Amino acid sequence: MKRILVIHGPNLDLLGEREPAIYGRITLKQINNALIKIAKRRKVNLKIIQSNHEGDIVELIGKGKKNKYSGLLINPAAYTHTSVAIRDAILASGIFTVEVHLSNIYSREEFRHKSLISPVAKGIILGFGSRSYTLGLEALLDLIES
Ligand code: DQA
Repeated sequence: MKRILVIHGPNLDLLGEREPAIYGRITLKQINNALIKIAKRRKVNLKIIQSNHEGDIVELIGKGKKNKYSGLLINPAAYTHTSVAIRDAILASGIFTVEVHLSNIYSREEFRHKSLISPVAKGIILGFGSRSYTLGLEALLDLIES
């Protein structure tokens, strides 16, 4: 069975109560359940992690090849705009990566308009709320299979 790593970055554990006007009322658990449903249907194994710590995320991605992950679905959250370390880890791992965001970062504050991750991702899905994740996982699996 193919193994996929799903990483939720900082503050995404607060979904449901965090700025609902922007991120909606859906919780991380509900998003994860939707991803698990897709994984079952498409017969892949998901490892899902939420972390508020940049170093932990870097280490997880760094060990990605050794842990035989064929794909990475990541919402780097605020680290999207700041983390050279996460970008370098993705490059070093060589793992197919899809970046997702609940909100459309380009319609928000200017500091969110730059993603350090996008240039090293195979694809990006943003602005569709929790559907960005489900669309992102389907697209990642299509990419891996093709
Ligand atoms: C986010 C967008 C980021 O700018 C923000 O820092 C987040 C969430 C999104 O999913 O829309 O934490 O990644």
